[in-house]
Amino acid sequence: DEYDLLVVGSANADLVTAVTRRPGAGETVLGSDLAVHPGGKGANQAVAAARLGARTALLARVGDDAYGRLLLDAQESAGVDTAGVLVGGAPTGVALITVDPSGDNSIVVAPGANARLTPADVRAARGLFEAARVVSLQLEIPLETVAEAAGALAPGARLVLNPSPPAPLPPEVLEACDPLIVNEHEARVVLEGAGARVPDAPEEWARGLLALGPRSVVVTLGAEGALVATAEGGERVPSVKVDAVDTTGAGDAFTAALAWRLGVGDDLVTAARYAVRVGALAVTRAGAQASYPTGAEVAGLGGEDAAR
Ligand code: RIB
Ligand code: NA
Repeated sequence: DEYDLLVVGSANADLVTAVTRRPGAGETVLGSDLAVHPGGKGANQAVAAARLGARTALLARVGDDAYGRLLLDAQESAGVDTAGVLVGGAPTGVALITVDPSGDNSIVVAPGANARLTPADVRAARGLFEAARVVSLQLEIPLETVAEAAGALAPGARLVLNPSPPAPLPPEVLEACDPLIVNEHEARVVLEGAGARVPDAPEEWARGLLALGPRSVVVTLGAEGALVATAEGGERVPSVKVDAVDTTGAGDAFTAALAWRLGVGDDLVTAARYAVRVGALAVTRAGAQASYPTGAEVAGLGGEDAAR
């Protein structure tokens, strides 16, 4: 295969300001000077994987504007194949992001061109799907485009899906996931959307989600690491202790790392252990793509023992 990973998803210009606290309704607060970073969950994943060493392609849509060029430059300097990045149809997507002193963020996305990535665009990119071992999807593009992509995998290829921002998923998409990657909030929305009970503990969310059809489920638990689950059972993967500066896009780095490691033959638990370290490094630096580590940095973080 030509690509370890094909990411189908969004590309946004992230407009970021640091605040001491978030404004309430009707309130104004002053933030720091504006920073403009390349972002978007799809574009973030592609850069994260390429920086780790994955042969990566991105299928996305940006506007014919300065933010679109910023995003294409970021992909190209990371080594991502951008033949599948379509240009035009609407302005580039924008994410309005506030980061608070604990490194947590709040994000509003204006989808722009991401909303114009269509099922027909997926069908026209058949060559990319045929050349990819793993395809990774998120939910900042239309759900019908996600469903088309989930059905476009080459024989033997694997689908990784993170339903972010969370939305209920159709059964045929859920059944194609291996794994479905969710945090607590995403787990609840997917379970509720399928009419399933929403239990209390991560092990139970995983069981509930597996019952909806995915071959495997990964529940990300922030500072608690992750839980990996298949029909055979579950296993907790511990986190790595770091000082959080900016968590923006850390989940995208986790997902991309895991998807890539699966594509090169790791089992799910091994891939998750690696991905936890990639996500941890990403929260120690500002921005999304700007904060993603190289493979050498991940190796330098030490093995599991150092991680504890
Ligand atoms: O997951 C982080 C990303 O969410 C940001 O880069 C922003 O663009 C939004 O898509
Ligand atoms: Na970061």
